[in-house]
Amino acid sequence: MNLKLPAPVSFAAGLAPALAAGWLLFPRLLYEEVPQPLPFSHEAHAEAAGTTCDGCHALGPDGRFAGVPRVEACAGCHAEKGGSPGVDALVEGYVTPGREVPWLFAARQPDNVFFPHAPHLALAKLECARCHGPQGKSAEARPFARNRISGESRDVWGPSIVRRKANAWDGMKMADCIRCHREAGRESACLDCHK
Ligand code: HEC
Ligand code: HEC
Ligand code: HEC
Ligand code: HEC
Ligand code: HEC
Repeated sequence: MNLKLPAPVSFAAGLAPALAAGWLLFPRLLYEEVPQPLPFSHEAHAEAAGTTCDGCHALGPDGRFAGVPRVEACAGCHAEKGGSPGVDALVEGYVTPGREVPWLFAARQPDNVFFPHAPHLALAKLECARCHGPQGKSAEARPFARNRISGESRDVWGPSIVRRKANAWDGMKMADCIRCHREAGRESACLDCHK
């Protein structure tokens, strides 16, 4: 039997799967996963080493955020091999030769953006998790999702194309920064965030 559908129906029947394929495939094609250089566990360090966030990520006396500790700070506890493959890789690849670990930061913004932690922590008293989610408690370093076109982290865009947020911390685009500033009653000038 030769079933002939009216044109709009067959058009819709073709369009729906095409859209669905694009919707599901596009993000996979757009982002590549880049592994972190070492298997770092935040959980292990909070539990086994009892180090708090400040112990590794503090605001310095000049108000600048220290970021991630340099490898000499890790060497205090990891000067020698033995323990786990992760520790061995750290000692062999970085501590002994005195090289910094090239971590990949999910939150890292494009170079033209100026983001200081100090006003957000010292003045606005925001929790790390408000912008970073539960990463500080994770058992594994997150793999880095790199946008193949811009080279930027997926977090700068947001996990979904439509930018529907499942969590407050999903995505940190310009609109997200400005929205929170407005909620706090602040109008920021372009040059506050772009230097
Ligand atoms: C022993 C040192 C140490 C401690 C303690 C520590 N961190 Fe980290 N943190 C690191 C290292 C090393 C990285 C880089 C590897 C990674 O991304 O997991 C990192 C990365 C991060 C990142 C990722 C930023 C990004 O853009 O990818 C966040 C967020 C973070 N830490 C938050 C926290 C919070 C919150 C705490 C406390 C609950 C904490 N850290 C405690 C060493 C530490
Ligand atoms: C206060 C001591 C201390 C400091 C400082 C410290 N670690 Fe650790 N680290 C530990 C302990 C305890 C463990 C868990 C036991 C083990 O595997 O040796 C651990 C485990 C590890 C591991 C094994 C894999 C895993 O599950 O985490 C890696 C990799 C590691 N640390 C990286 C780092 C890096 C990178 C730094 C510096 C940013 C650092 N550590 C700073 C105490 C420390
Ligand atoms: C208002 C949002 C916000 C809060 C609150 C916040 N961060 Fe960040 N964090 C960011 C942004 C945005 C970046 C990327 C900065 C850049 O690219 O210059 C970042 C970067 C980082 C990095 C990567 C290293 C670096 O120097 O870029 C670490 C580690 C980190 N934050 C840890 C923390 C910790 C720990 C806390 C809580 C004490 C915290 N952050 C609170 C937004 C925030
Ligand atoms: C969850 C809320 C929140 C988010 C998200 C946020 N900020 Fe802020 N930011 C604040 C608040 C509140 C202040 C004011 C702190 C004070 O001075 O009391 C501030 C201050 C600043 C300042 C100091 C100058 C000024 O305008 O007051 C800069 C620069 C800044 N933010 C940049 C950024 C950038 C860039 C992003 C996005 C990557 C961002 N912020 C995301 C809440 C936020
Ligand atoms: C509160 C911080 C903040 C303010 C204020 C701000 N920006 Fe941005 N802007 C960002 C961040 C973060 C990014 C990178 C993430 C993104 O692309 O959204 C960005 C990206 C951009 C880009 C590249 C965006 C793209 O889509 O390619 C342009 C252009 C830009 N901003 C212009 C401006 C201008 C013009 C103003 C003033 C009217 C301004 N920004 C004010 C935070 C800010």
